[in-house]
Amino acid sequence: MLKPEDNALLTLVTGDAPMGAWMKQNFWIPAALSEKLESNEAPLRVKLFGERFIAFRTVDGHVGFFDEACPHRGASLALARQEDNALRCLFHGWKFHVKGEVLEVPTQTNDANAFCKTVPLKHYPAREGGGIVWVWLGQGRHAPRLPEFEFMTLPSNHFVTYKQVANFNWLQGVETTLDSAHVGFLHRSHIAGMGHIAHAAKELAPVYEVEEQAYGFRYAGLRNLNTTSRYVRVNSFVYPWFGVIAPRDDYQGGAVFFTVPIDDENSTYWTVRYRMDQAIERDAVTLFSDPADWPPKVPGAAKDNWGQDRDLMRNGHFSGFPQHITTEDLVICESQGGIVDRSKEFLNTGDIAIVRLRRILLREVRSFMERQKEKELAPTPKGQILDACPDRVMSDALAHQAQSPYDHIEYGAIRSKAGLLPIEQDWRSL
Ligand code: FES
Ligand SMILES: [Fe+2]
Repeated sequence: MLKPEDNALLTLVTGDAPMGAWMKQNFWIPAALSEKLESNEAPLRVKLFGERFIAFRTVDGHVGFFDEACPHRGASLALARQEDNALRCLFHGWKFHVKGEVLEVPTQTNDANAFCKTVPLKHYPAREGGGIVWVWLGQGRHAPRLPEFEFMTLPSNHFVTYKQVANFNWLQGVETTLDSAHVGFLHRSHIAGMGHIAHAAKELAPVYEVEEQAYGFRYAGLRNLNTTSRYVRVNSFVYPWFGVIAPRDDYQGGAVFFTVPIDDENSTYWTVRYRMDQAIERDAVTLFSDPADWPPKVPGAAKDNWGQDRDLMRNGHFSGFPQHITTEDLVICESQGGIVDRSKEFLNTGDIAIVRLRRILLREVRSFMERQKEKELAPTPKGQILDACPDRVMSDALAHQAQSPYDHIEYGAIRSKAGLLPIEQDWRSL
């Protein structure tokens, strides 16, 4: 159970909300699927943290990321023409290079070149990796390091990346990813016959052991199956929203789930599945069923119980959502409401990983708020321009402050595992 003000601090991400500011400043934000950005095509509209942006790929293959509203009078740059690695606004023809330079202001009668330099086009650095366009929405000159997870370094046929719009607050998605205790219930019908994960339905009260790490924490869900053997699932939470989840037992690799805020009550639910040892097959990757089922949309509206199939339940299906494990997760998160009221919960030992998640997120966001306050009180170094443009001049002192405290995380070494161990053996040996 949380105080209502802590629930607000954890969940709200739009406007001046500290959680949103912490995320934007310290982390690259997954913004779009790389494959959806086609060279010389219409810019893609992207909503993050309640704000509107566009992403586009030029003829030369560069990715641009701008505010959606034209800095002149707010026309949507999603309508803009692509011309020579630049966008030209349809309304009055102002032209913006992919790197953020304002090239032409044809409606200006005098000193047009000088005028160009004064136009406050909001543009943001973008990078690609793991099939994802990442954007940095923070302030200052130095962007944090890209999260170089294992899958980010693999050839493109070794991973698949999916995304799905989800109608709930970002934290509900992250909590569900880290909640081992629901697997044996909600997903019971899907996990039967799915290798080691089927053991999750044999012991429904996992014992948790949590270990904090520089990247967040890892935890083991321990299930004693009999007097000699134990099913161990070790998963990791990585700031600010990644769940790195153990793969099936027959391959080397993993699955990474992350829930990124569109606004306070809507999110993008991302999944990356990857194999280190060989190329991945799409249906093997989704683990369960026909790849045509993916992304596994919620089959109905809330008023119709999200399309739950009661006949199927009478015939033995546990949840009535035969589509996919992820469908079950999305339905459950949506059923909790746009933002679940955590002051009205009644938690138990099955929720230990979730409790730890909330505690460290609150700690991190509070220490970010402290640092921000100190910065505001500190005298402003000369020559600084603080804005979203990384190419502007800034003093070294401020550049140093702008670096992320998470830059030392070794993303490439974060891996999760599951399997059977003799009961007396430490789970860390897995
Ligand atoms: S609104 Fe874009 S050029 Fe005028
Ligand atoms: Fe789940």
